[in-house]
Amino acid sequence: MGNLHAGILGTGHAYPAGILTNAELEKTVETSDEWITTRTGIKQRRKAAPGEYTSMFAVRAARQAIERAKLDPLEIDLLLCATVTPDQILPSTGCIIQAELGANKAAAMDIVAACSGFLYGLTLADSMIRTGQSRYVLVIGAEILTQYVDYTDRGTCILFGDGAGAAVLGPVEADKGILAARIRSDGRYLEQLFSPGGGTRRPASAATLAAGDHYFKMRGNELFKVAVRSMSEISNEVLEEAGQKAEDISLFIPHQANQRITDAVASKLKVEEARVYSNIAMHGNTSSASIPIALDECVEAGRVKEGDLVLMASFGGGVTWGGVLVRW
Ligand code: UT7
Repeated sequence: MGNLHAGILGTGHAYPAGILTNAELEKTVETSDEWITTRTGIKQRRKAAPGEYTSMFAVRAARQAIERAKLDPLEIDLLLCATVTPDQILPSTGCIIQAELGANKAAAMDIVAACSGFLYGLTLADSMIRTGQSRYVLVIGAEILTQYVDYTDRGTCILFGDGAGAAVLGPVEADKGILAARIRSDGRYLEQLFSPGGGTRRPASAATLAAGDHYFKMRGNELFKVAVRSMSEISNEVLEEAGQKAEDISLFIPHQANQRITDAVASKLKVEEARVYSNIAMHGNTSSASIPIALDECVEAGRVKEGDLVLMASFGGGVTWGGVLVRW
């Protein structure tokens, strides 16, 4: 393993053209732009149109990331697609994306870790590259969450949006790239965010459809507390492991779940607003796509420069959480 590090060589993102604003939600469910804005920071979210599916946006994001990494799709030897909203049960969305990209020399698979899926992917990519098992790894986070949202449930329907983000990783000089990466989960809290129907436990039927068992169910309030605690803790763990301090962070990119969660975590870490990235107003919560979309927006805006220390942290259904620290 030596001192070899895995670095992010290229990023990309894509999302549907359709926009669902708070004003539109006000018309269909008992809520208000004022409540959504003050409680979550969200103003709008992207919503896929009928006929649009997860891999469409994943492929667009991935192509951009591969191009910016100056690679040929045939050089990718591992393709990880983080998603909880796959195109279909079989095959993996990873394999569908692989075929579209012509990344025919890769092993492709999906990662099911909800909003932490992209950081799970970065962590696995880091290990595979450092052990020499893989050279170039494509990690994607892609979701069409609006397909699984119950638009009569105001506790969830205001939060979620659609999109995809991607990153290509490869070996870099030892003082750059991923300095520390950690992932965790605790299945005892699985009912904080889950979708009960459509699997082998409760196979899809007219009855499960009528009961809305395929929709996301969430205990938002409980999840909020777990989110703040787990993201702060894992951020401190990766900083400590890399021998870095919160004051050294150039940019903190948290999972975009709720502006109040972001603010609470940033305040615990003592990272002031200017060093924290937020796009929740425009995208809402896009689960596994949230961090890679945010990361690519930062790259495009010139907010990450060579030598910068970038911290990413996430939490999500499972529950799962993760932290990744990168020297750009
Ligand atoms: O990526 C992981 C995904 N999950 C999350 O990130 C969820 C984390 N949790 C949250 O973001 C917040 O808990 C929510 C935004 C979901 C809810 O905010 P909250 O401040 O925790 O509100 P609450 O659930 O405690 O509800 C407060 C009140 C309730 O009314 P009463 O009982 O006080 O009369 C709710 O019924 O707000 C009501 N409420 C709403 N009112 C207007 C809940 N949702 C809405 C709504 N519009 N959309």
